Amino acid sequence: MKKILFVASEGVPFIKTGGLADVVGSLPKYFDKEKYDVRVMLPYYQCIPARYKEQAEYLTNFYMDYMWQDRYVGLFKIEHEGIIFYFVDNEWYFSGDKPYTDQYFDLEKFAFYSKAVLSALPVLDFKPDVIHCHDWQTGLIPVHLKDKFRANPFYRDIKSVMTIHNLKFQGVWSVDVIQRISELSDYYFTPDKLESYSNGNMLKGGIVYADKVTTVSNTYAQEVKMPFYGEGLDGLMRARSHDLWGILNGIDYDEYDPAADPFIYQNYDARTFRKEKGKNKTGLQRELGMEVNPKKFMIGIVSRLTDQKGLDLVQAVMDQICSEDLQFVILGTGDEKYENMFRHYDWKYHDSVSANIYYSETMSHKVYAACDAFLMPSLFEPCGLSQIISLRYGTVPIVRETGGLKDTVEPYNEYDSTGTGFSFANYNAHEMLGSIMYAKNTYYNKKREWNKIIDRGMAKDFSWTSSAQKYEELYSVL
Ligand code: ADP
Ligand code: GLC
Repeated sequence: MKKILFVASEGVPFIKTGGLADVVGSLPKYFDKEKYDVRVMLPYYQCIPARYKEQAEYLTNFYMDYMWQDRYVGLFKIEHEGIIFYFVDNEWYFSGDKPYTDQYFDLEKFAFYSKAVLSALPVLDFKPDVIHCHDWQTGLIPVHLKDKFRANPFYRDIKSVMTIHNLKFQGVWSVDVIQRISELSDYYFTPDKLESYSNGNMLKGGIVYADKVTTVSNTYAQEVKMPFYGEGLDGLMRARSHDLWGILNGIDYDEYDPAADPFIYQNYDARTFRKEKGKNKTGLQRELGMEVNPKKFMIGIVSRLTDQKGLDLVQAVMDQICSEDLQFVILGTGDEKYENMFRHYDWKYHDSVSANIYYSETMSHKVYAACDAFLMPSLFEPCGLSQIISLRYGTVPIVRETGGLKDTVEPYNEYDSTGTGFSFANYNAHEMLGSIMYAKNTYYNKKREWNKIIDRGMAKDFSWTSSAQKYEELYSVL
């Protein structure tokens, strides 16, 4: 039995701000249980809902020396859907109503967390063969494993994997600060290790020191070796390319299942969507106070509202998108400029635009089920789960051909009747608008063709099964 410990800063159902949480919370369920015991470690944030905390079993606590002080480390455990989640508790670092707060404090928080995770292993009933680290918050773990923890034989044979969900976020501050919070010696702060453009960089540490590095789609694994997508680390990604795997994300087919989803107005599946899916549209139109019309072409966005998601393209042609024959539903939070932009258009085109500037799991399911098309014109997209969820809900994705969007959405070809969505190549608002118009035209004038696009999309399998096997293969070559 191979033992794997996922370490991350978020995971469903306990705490989520984006796709990272979906991956960390669902992937562990899909490994071969005969051969792999996969568990997860998360921070015990104060903002984890009470209904979960009530289930938590207190394990133990100890004091850890960190930045010249004795710091409390509590350990909890929750078994959820057959997976064991461990939690690291510390009130000072993990309080507040959000997992991420001030940028500087986050760096120290996750530097503390990374050391605490490793320090906790000997007192757990679980010694991992592999520590699988996710994103910059856990970047120091592979470094510590080769440094201060190496002297202890307990840690010597533990391997590490670093998965990059988003290269944009690296955990960067001045060398002084990163050195202080990581408690690493000068030796580590050179450009071939944790130093990056004269700063200290926590994710870089993980990429340099992990035994294997992965990212969440094949195309993104290629893209990050190029300056445009490499976020300053393209040289390092090229240097590590022999150990770099692109493994496509999946989604939890039980959680995202239009046939059994308790949050939507009307359940449906690949056989019944022609008749039933529309009831989700009218239900949502009614709930959001839009014009109730089952025939109207409805586009949705469910997203963090940031530059990554290509929203400046949307902003540039918003007046052209908002025509008489189209409705647009937005669910998201993020940069104020985009929140206000969508609020403005909601005011301007009240019947046809609905801006919902908040976070809601329930509402997200309703939007995925109700819309005819889902817009995701990202500037870059390591994988993207929203377009995969859309395919599962028979909602046709309109995407830019980058990262995981390229690997999951096959462009519609009207001549040989293939494809599962609409896509465009260049980061250009009019190209995007062209794809939206093409989709709208197909919806109104070639309904049979449109429904066949949905047939093909719903027939695709983006469950975790095949990707979990790739991770198993990766663990087996360590
Ligand atoms: P990213 O991780 O870059 O934000 P992904 O497409 O991988 O993008 O994952 C986003 C996840 O977060 C999806 O599950 C999506 O439904 C969810 N999500 C984003 N914004 C909201 C919101 N405002 N309310 C509910 N769910 C949201
Ligand atoms: C990141 C990426 C997104 C990816 C998610 C899960 O948040 O932005 O593309 O799907 O991580 O891997």
